[in-house]
Amino acid sequence: MTDYLSRLYEDEQFQMAAEDTLRPGGLELTRKAMGIAGFPVDSRILDIGCGCGKTVELLIKDYGMQAMGIDISEKLIQKAKSQNNALEVQVGDVYDLPYADQSLNGIFCECTFSLFADKPLALAQINRVLLPGGKLIVSDLYLREKTGECSGLPMITSVDGIATRDVLLTEFTAAGFKLDAWQDETTVYKEFIAGLIMKYGSLSLFWESILGTCEKAYSVKESMKTAKIGYCLSVWEKINLPNL
Ligand SMILES: C[S@@+](CC[C@H](N)C(=O)[O-])C[C@H]1O[C@@H](n2cnc3c(N)ncnc32)[C@H](O)[C@@H]1O
Repeated sequence: MTDYLSRLYEDEQFQMAAEDTLRPGGLELTRKAMGIAGFPVDSRILDIGCGCGKTVELLIKDYGMQAMGIDISEKLIQKAKSQNNALEVQVGDVYDLPYADQSLNGIFCECTFSLFADKPLALAQINRVLLPGGKLIVSDLYLREKTGECSGLPMITSVDGIATRDVLLTEFTAAGFKLDAWQDETTVYKEFIAGLIMKYGSLSLFWESILGTCEKAYSVKESMKTAKIGYCLSVWEKINLPNL
């Protein structure tokens, strides 16, 4: 993850603008995912990139799950703890998950997967800690069309940028996952962007607050326009070990 993004997620103004969660869809999208995944009560669920811990809290309080979270940002883990000290959240990296092999029923990656530069390694770790038949829930940005250049995007997302559904399907299948459900949720992405415009005054001012200069902000904004970005909610089931 780039420094720009760490600064963004740890920024109080962005946290206030994004409200409960640091991503499109909020806890409503998490509830939708829970409806699709159908975990039995008391399932062990990990939220990777848990941010301020809102999903972990929801899974425990409203669904009776044994939920926990990790995030690479010490500041965000501190914030989660300061809001609810009982939460089992810790600093951790997707590339080195601090959990035993086949010990979890489910994993959430809510607007985090596109940030992972080494996606096969991230998926191999997720596969390792999930039980056979365990579910991986990914809500994230995706490319609705292959057309359009993403130049400028790697600066703010991961090295690989954001992928199409077909590319994701190939990556997840190679990593031992089967697609159970895929829903386009671009409406919540548009609402999220509209919320940022309201809070920051304009999209340019939002980008400037992360990227610093008007020039950079302009080029990222233009790339985002041509790239036909959407948002998806997907549920994957672990069916075998990755083909490494
Ligand atoms: C868009 S925010 C989403 C936060 C949270 N899922 C939510 O719904 O509010 C992305 C989060 O992923 C975390 N992150 C990025 N790279 C990570 C990594 N390699 N391992 C663990 N967390 C990571 C960031 O620190 C950030 O909190």
